[in-house]
Amino acid sequence: MATSSATIQTGEVHVWSLRFSDAESDIANLSQLLSDDEQARAVRFISDCDRIRFTVARGVLRQLLSAYTGHPARSIQLIYGRHGRPALTASQAHGINFNLSHSGEHALFALSREGDVGVDIERIRPYSSAYRLRLAKRFFSELEFSAIQGLSASKVEQAFFACWTRKEAYIKVHGRGLSLPLSQFSVSVNTMSAPQLLATPWCPSDLKLTRLWDLAAPRGYRAAIALKTFAGDPEFRLFEWSDKVSPGL
Ligand SMILES: CC(C)(COP(=O)(O)OP(=O)(O)OC[C@H]1O[C@@H](n2cnc3c(N)ncnc32)[C@H](O)[C@@H]1OP(=O)(O)O)[C@@H](O)C(=O)NCCC(=O)NCCS
Repeated sequence: MATSSATIQTGEVHVWSLRFSDAESDIANLSQLLSDDEQARAVRFISDCDRIRFTVARGVLRQLLSAYTGHPARSIQLIYGRHGRPALTASQAHGINFNLSHSGEHALFALSREGDVGVDIERIRPYSSAYRLRLAKRFFSELEFSAIQGLSASKVEQAFFACWTRKEAYIKVHGRGLSLPLSQFSVSVNTMSAPQLLATPWCPSDLKLTRLWDLAAPRGYRAAIALKTFAGDPEFRLFEWSDKVSPGL
């Protein structure tokens, strides 16, 4: 029987953050943890940087899933939803749902035992506010675009990335990827108050089922998490991955 070394208590959501540079020296060990199909996928990356980051992220994911489920990292089987969302098999999950996101130098891994989870981290890239407004008009809902357009230029950057990460966390909690058009739901863009899901015309009942939170992110990044069917107010426990600290210790 599998024995786990890390436990998620009722009401908790565990979020692990990883700085790629802290793990890249361990890539030979992490690479060994990947399944055959993941290793084949890694080989297909054209850019060395993308290959290394994919390998490190999957290796660390497997370490975490091993700690929480008790199954050896290499033996964990991941299955994929219609739009590519990875998940544990029913026989290995022990109730654990997870999602991960990576951008630039950082990755986030979120794990929950109550309902689905979606997480997103984005590096804030140096666009002009005029360019951001053009992107917002093209990709965000009318409600979101007009809220961002009404802000002073100095506030557009944070509002744009708050909106982006909240929207990505939302589509990831549903496992939909870009099959759910980004204009088909609205989130709040205000960075000074708790994020809210404002409208979900594609699925009206979802307003009651899915909630959003911003996550603390490294300087120059923004991050958000979405939880679906999570009873009560979650306690977010934040951990930093290190090759010297095993989850659960
Ligand atoms: C597929 C998608 C989830 C990728 O999102 P992303 O922001 O590029 O990448 P992230 O790092 O946040 O997430 C990728 C991880 O999510 C997971 N994932 C993949 N498909 C997923 C899906 N359908 N649902 C949830 N999670 C998914 C995987 O673990 C993946 O990691 P991997 O590449 O190591 O396998 C999808 O949302 C997408 O392509 N978004 C495009 C972003 C965009 O154009 N946004 C416009 C502004 S809002």
